[in-house]
Amino acid sequence: MKNIIAIASFATILLVSCTSKAPVAKSAPIASTSTPEQIAQGKTIFENSCGRCHKLPDPTSHSSVQWVGIMNSMAPKAKLTDEQHQWVYDYVVSVK
Ligand code: HEC
Repeated sequence: MKNIIAIASFATILLVSCTSKAPVAKSAPIASTSTPEQIAQGKTIFENSCGRCHKLPDPTSHSSVQWVGIMNSMAPKAKLTDEQHQWVYDYVVSVK
């Protein structure tokens, strides 16, 4: 009996550890030149820089075209470099 329990829990651990290895970034944005790492950076920058003056905006509340204009006016406010501007943009449009 003890063996069965041991085998069962071992199997569960195996299952869990396998499924949790799935990559985090599931949907690679199509029109983006940024790597998943850069998009992850964009997310961090977004969360740290874009909620200072107002509530953190919801990435899905604007279209990718609207985000171009928003980022053009907000990136200088948040004092982003051109690269950071690109990463934050690629992050917000990657959120579906
Ligand atoms: C220095 C302050 C400041 C920072 C930092 C800032 N914003 Fe803003 N944001 C504003 C102000 C002020 C407004 C409202 C007036 C305006 O549209 O210029 C605004 C408005 C917005 C809006 C609404 C625009 C619309 O058309 O509905 C969005 C979305 C937005 N910001 C996103 C961002 C993002 C993304 C970042 C980070 C890159 C950011 N903001 C950083 C000050 C800031």
